[in-house]
Amino acid sequence: MIRFTVNGERLETDISPTTPLLWFLRDNLSMTGTKFGCGMALCGACTVLVNGEPVRACSMPISAMAGKRVVTIEEIGKTPVGKKVQDAWIAEDVVQCGYCQSGQIMSATALLTKNKAPTDTEIDAAMSGNICRCGTYNRVRAAIKTAAASGSAASAPATKAARKAKASS
Ligand code: FES
Ligand code: FES
Repeated sequence: MIRFTVNGERLETDISPTTPLLWFLRDNLSMTGTKFGCGMALCGACTVLVNGEPVRACSMPISAMAGKRVVTIEEIGKTPVGKKVQDAWIAEDVVQCGYCQSGQIMSATALLTKNKAPTDTEIDAAMSGNICRCGTYNRVRAAIKTAAASGSAASAPATKAARKAKASS
């Protein structure tokens, strides 16, 4: 029996230990916010946090989760940093098709939890494993900076409003 927590809920499962965490989240828990992209730990679409670290769920056997804390996109907005990141994502209109964005937000939240004011180089290093076919990289970086600069979750949307006002003046 494998015991661990997902989004704060304790659970146990006797599913095959080699089952990828991603399948367990999507098929057993119906948490479909975490996406399947490549299935080979190459694109980042399936990123979740395990004990606070970004992990590719497609390539992580469920057996490795024993005793760990998993947080997914369904819950990340309830954490202070995750809320700030999601607000910044909205403020910066980051999303295009959206497919990669769960993973992007999870990696960004992990980064900002450890590093409150990352440089461009640090942002690029932390986000390099999250591929976006729509090319939203500049907006991802802008949103991370907006989140880093926002003292509170409520201030993030004001950032874009201020920029729009400036652009139209
Ligand atoms: S689906 Fe997991 S890294 Fe691409
Ligand atoms: S927003 Fe479409 S793949 Fe990233």
